[in-house]
Amino acid sequence: MMNAKFPEKGTEKDQVLSIIDKIRRMNLEYSYGRVFGSMCTKPHDIALRVHGMFLEANLGNPGLCRGVLELQNEIHGAIGELINAPGDYEVLTTGGGTEGNILALWQARKESGRKTVLLPTSAHFSFLKACDLLDMKPVYIPMNEDYLPDLDALEGMIDDNTAAVVGVAGTTELGLVEPIREMADICGDIHLHVDAAFGGLVIPFLRELGRDIPDFDFVIEGVDSVTIDPHKMGFSTIPLGLYYSRRRFPVSVESPYLSGDRQRTLRGTRTSASIPAYWTTIKLLGKEGYRALVARCMENTEYLVESMVSLGMEPIVEPVMNIASFHHTEAQRIVREMEAKGWNISRTVNPPGLRFVIMPHVDRANIDHMREELAKVI
Ligand SMILES: Cc1ncc(COP(=O)(O)O)c(C=O)c1O
Repeated sequence: MMNAKFPEKGTEKDQVLSIIDKIRRMNLEYSYGRVFGSMCTKPHDIALRVHGMFLEANLGNPGLCRGVLELQNEIHGAIGELINAPGDYEVLTTGGGTEGNILALWQARKESGRKTVLLPTSAHFSFLKACDLLDMKPVYIPMNEDYLPDLDALEGMIDDNTAAVVGVAGTTELGLVEPIREMADICGDIHLHVDAAFGGLVIPFLRELGRDIPDFDFVIEGVDSVTIDPHKMGFSTIPLGLYYSRRRFPVSVESPYLSGDRQRTLRGTRTSASIPAYWTTIKLLGKEGYRALVARCMENTEYLVESMVSLGMEPIVEPVMNIASFHHTEAQRIVREMEAKGWNISRTVNPPGLRFVIMPHVDRANIDHMREELAKVI
């Protein structure tokens, strides 16, 4: 409310809490089974409890939460192992994919002194924020008929102004894994950043489940940095993202009045409760638990595809991960009408269509219910 005023006097506790209760009931919570358009999910119950125990934790002032710092190191090592991070890699904890992608372009710009960023058409809009912030110029690589970057076009686009090339492992709209190895070969010494914000915690488990998915991480020598988000398919509480780099991040400032000597992240004071919460989740589930989670999401994705095909919809691509999108020219209207009925689905732009992210909070009964409602508006 723009006309709200700072209250002169305090209000009675029960009255305040009753307003908060009403406000909370306006949320569309994951557990209602109606959210098909988010890449986040309801974390493990125990992780939620642990998160609540660390609300004061602030790694901007790490001397006050040394235990959290230790758990952060363990997380950095565990995820580093999953994505084949080299021995002396750098890793910074972020608030999510947007911040990770900003750090990547910041590093590329600082190291190269150049300003052009070659982005796949699939790139998440966070790169546009990063470019604006860093005064860099985004240039899009055209898509081929498989909705992947056209490699011949990329080859012709690299020039003396190119600071970085971006590849995506788990595209936001279609869940595709771009040809990172081939892109690395074309890039040579140019910074190749892989945005694996979503796919980074799906692909390793899909591969363990026997699916044939190309390399996307530091196993490829030409990959310079990777964004990967535990708060998406890592089943972590929000906010938690990670930025890995082959080289030391080139910006670090003295933080004399805090307990650490220097700060090397974009944020200063930062909520850090998601670190013990995520550590707890990793401990509780292990690789085995994550494999099971990913397997279930994929089964449900396949079930959703069958269900949508039976409504006459055509998948844009065969899903590689738990994102399924379907050609539709009136997606915007449908998303709005479903929202009015209390459902969250989303849409794609390249090409236009309806998009569903089948996160761990979605089950078959939710899919059946959603299909019933969707059938009335398509
Ligand atoms: C591939 C990709 N990168 C980056 C982001 C941005 O992540 P966040 O919203 O956590 O900043 C998203 C979000 O959907 C994404 O799909």
